[in-house]
Amino acid sequence: MPSETLQSIAQKLVANYKGLLAADESVPTATKRLESIGLESTEETRRQYRNLFLTTEGIENYISGVILFEETLGQSDSHGTPFVELLQQKGIIPGIKVDKGAVEKNDYPGEKFTEGLDGLAKRFQEYYALGARFSKWRAIITIGDSLPTDHCIEENAKSLASYAALAQAAGIVPVIEPEVLITGDHDIKRSEEVTTQTVKTTFDELKKNNVDLSATILKTSMVISGDKCPTQATSEEIGAATVRFLKNSVPDDVPGVVFLSGGQTGVQATENLNAVHKFNPGPWQVSFSYARALQGDPLKVWAGQAANIPAAQTEFIKRMKGVHAANQGQYTAEMEN
Ligand code: 13P
Repeated sequence: MPSETLQSIAQKLVANYKGLLAADESVPTATKRLESIGLESTEETRRQYRNLFLTTEGIENYISGVILFEETLGQSDSHGTPFVELLQQKGIIPGIKVDKGAVEKNDYPGEKFTEGLDGLAKRFQEYYALGARFSKWRAIITIGDSLPTDHCIEENAKSLASYAALAQAAGIVPVIEPEVLITGDHDIKRSEEVTTQTVKTTFDELKKNNVDLSATILKTSMVISGDKCPTQATSEEIGAATVRFLKNSVPDDVPGVVFLSGGQTGVQATENLNAVHKFNPGPWQVSFSYARALQGDPLKVWAGQAANIPAAQTEFIKRMKGVHAANQGQYTAEMEN
């Protein structure tokens, strides 16, 4: 696969103020989401959950790519059209989450190490054949009293780099996601330090592995106060610190940076994205790759009832319009009405 094609896919993922929908919750996470609205998690209810979002009319005006979970890659909408085909018809690029989740190691209490490299080259071939043109691997970094350890950051960076090299070899754009968790009582300054160290280390490893940065997307946390920090930073502080961190850590040849929402509400993740854009991030395109901040509110409106689907999809459109406006620094509170 020529690298030009990988580059043009990467560029398309972050063009025209559009962003990514992270519809790639693993079965245990999807189960948590469905149970939160009183639905039992089965293959069929998980399909209905995906169907709600992927069949929303006009989604392609805001979303350039959807990250799918393996189960969804083989599923179809309620009229029998495979989800991958449905997305392709709308000009949306199908993506696939490829890591196998994160585990603890005895010597590193409180930290997680992402798995999934075994057999990944072969899986990539299968995902490509099914239509996936980009992928995601998530690493988890925890802030605590003496955390994170350098070892945790480095090991996860190495896995991200190995993954990214395998993705590109298979003709698939890698989205690299080292997520610094929002949980904890750390302040925004500590968040900036850890996020900067994590992302810098990750790019160092990518370079060592000859990963083509011009065909790579960074998915990162915003620089934000820990959820239990007594003094919560304002949106403006979050915007300033996040853009400073990006400028200190992300090489210029990376085409795009997208944020995860990480436990922010839909409105917070929209306000903070808007604040980031007020500080003129660049040279890369900056956008969103949200799961909860786009799907959480519509999920509550849906509540698993067919009669609520139109209202839930209207709520989903509202959230997508918000982040699309935020990408232009034009989100306002009135857009919530
Ligand atoms: P959230 O936006 O809910 O944090 O999910 C994004 C994601 O893909 C985490 O891996």
